[in-house]
Amino acid sequence: MSSSSGAQEQAGSAALLAVRDVTIDFELRGGSLRAVEEVSFSADDAEKVIILGPSGCGKSTVLKAIGGFNHITSGAIELRGKPISKPGPERLLVFQDTNQLFPWRTVRSNIMFACRVVLGLPKSEARAVADEHLAMVGLERFGDFFPHTLSGGMKQRAAIARALSVDPHLLLMDEPFGALDAQTRTHLQQELNDIWGRTKKTILFVTHSIDEAVRLGSRIIVMGKDPGHIKMDMHNPLHEVFEEDIEAEPVEAAEFRREIRALLHQVDDPDVTTPPGGQG
Ligand SMILES: Nc1ncnc2c1ncn2[C@@H]1O[C@H](COP(=O)(O)OP(=O)(O)OP(=O)(O)O)[C@@H](O)[C@H]1O
Ligand SMILES: [Mg+2]
Repeated sequence: MSSSSGAQEQAGSAALLAVRDVTIDFELRGGSLRAVEEVSFSADDAEKVIILGPSGCGKSTVLKAIGGFNHITSGAIELRGKPISKPGPERLLVFQDTNQLFPWRTVRSNIMFACRVVLGLPKSEARAVADEHLAMVGLERFGDFFPHTLSGGMKQRAAIARALSVDPHLLLMDEPFGALDAQTRTHLQQELNDIWGRTKKTILFVTHSIDEAVRLGSRIIVMGKDPGHIKMDMHNPLHEVFEEDIEAEPVEAAEFRREIRALLHQVDDPDVTTPPGGQG
């Protein structure tokens, strides 16, 4: 496994996204909680960076900070060298909740609304952009439907279409397929890879599924917890195989998954041992 973050750090200002030594503490009644400590990584144009880690390791916290929704205690987050301080349409979040569309608008109207507000497009252009993106996610026949009449997978497709329609620099996805059944999930993973192949949009995708990480990532960042930190930042050697066919089963895949699993379960403190049968 080779680390790619070093080379990108050296590239400095070339990185689309730079996360440098980010620590995030949450103030709680009776003290503070360190969610993540000294997290550093970067993402370049046309990368699909997966953030993989156990529950509670700070994946969402980091993603929300990049989205501008979480205050950072120390460190810096920069987009093309400019510090991020608040949410912006160049960094859009798609999350796990399948009810993230406006329920009182049709699917097309949801997308048109985003295009009009964010891009300032007139109605006719917004409609054309909406229809183009509905077709991109296979919902061309569902533009006039209201969100509550769609399946969970269709709603997530619509949310992805809406996010892509305003042409963000960075698409932030927090377990967007986590609430879907296995078959729909696989289908949407393939679609996301196809969309990425066409748009080459930089995607930062959070998951706690090793399988999803290996299928989707061009790079995989593995996090550990207590507090959240980065264990490894690696290129995915199987990326192109899965881009071609999400259900491919190359012989190297099992070994690669095993390596990642071992890393996830590895205990950081050498004085602490994992109990037999423990998850580490
Ligand atoms: N707004 C908040 N206020 C206080 N603590 C928070 C807040 N958001 C997250 N935390 C804490 O920060 C830590 C990391 O949470 P986070 O939601 O980022 O984990 P995660 O890796 O996304 O987990 P999961 O896989 O379960 O979604 C947890 O201990 C959580 O309780
Ligand atoms: Mg989370």
